[in-house]
Amino acid sequence: MGFWKSLFSSSDTASSQMKLEGDAVDGAISRTDGNNRIFFSTERDIDLYELEELCDAVGWSRRPMRKVRKAIQHSFLVTSMWQQRGNTRRLIGFARATSDHAFNATIWDVVVHPEFQGKGFGKALMKYTIKKLRSEDISNITLFADPHVVNFYRTMGFVPDPEGIKGMFWYPD
Ligand SMILES: CC(C)(COP(=O)(O)OP(=O)(O)OC[C@H]1O[C@@H](n2cnc3c(N)ncnc32)[C@H](O)[C@@H]1OP(=O)(O)O)[C@@H](O)C(=O)NCCC(=O)NCCS
Repeated sequence: MGFWKSLFSSSDTASSQMKLEGDAVDGAISRTDGNNRIFFSTERDIDLYELEELCDAVGWSRRPMRKVRKAIQHSFLVTSMWQQRGNTRRLIGFARATSDHAFNATIWDVVVHPEFQGKGFGKALMKYTIKKLRSEDISNITLFADPHVVNFYRTMGFVPDPEGIKGMFWYPD
C-alpha cells in the first residue's frame, strides 16, 4: 500500500521546505509534523475565489466564476489538495475529471501552487485522481497536456498519441 512520506524540517516549516517522497497515494492524509499536514479531498465545496487565486498564481487566464462553478458541479470527480496549519486550510492543488461514468474520463485543470511545485505534490495529486477514477471502474483516462508539461504526464504513464490517435479540436470562428 502506498503512503505519504511528507518531510517537514520543523513544526514551523515553510512550504518551500516541504518535500513529498514516495508513492503518496493511498493515504488521503499526509504524515504530519506539529500542526502541519497536507491532505486530499473530493468534496466540491471549494471557495471559488481561493481556486481563482490558485489559478492566478500559475498565470492562467481568468474564467467567469459562474462557469467554473458549473464546471465543478458537473464534473465526475473533483480533487483538491490542502495544506492545513492549525485551524487554517489553504488550497494548494486542484484537478477535476469529466466522464461518461462507464468507460472514459478526461482530466482537466491540473494545478499545484508554485510554492509547492517540484516536490512530488503534482504527481501525488494525479495518482490520487487516477486511483479514484479506477475505483469507479473507469479504464480510459485521457487529458490534454500543455506542451511544457507533456513529460510531467509521461512520468505517470500517459502516452501521447497512442497508435497515432490525434486529439482534434473544433473552435467557433
Ligand atoms: C504541472 C504541475 C501540476 C506539476 O506539479 P509538480 O508538483 O511541480 O510536479 P511533481 O513535483 O509532482 O513532478 C512529478 C514529476 O514530473 C516532473 N515534472 C514536473 N513538472 C514538469 C514539467 N513542467 N515538465 C516536465 N516534467 C515535469 C518532475 O520532474 C517529476 O519527475 P520524477 O517523478 O521523475 O521526479 C505544476 O507544475 C503546475 O501546476 N504547473 C502550472 C499549471 C499547469 O501547467 N498545469 C498543467 C496543465 S496541462
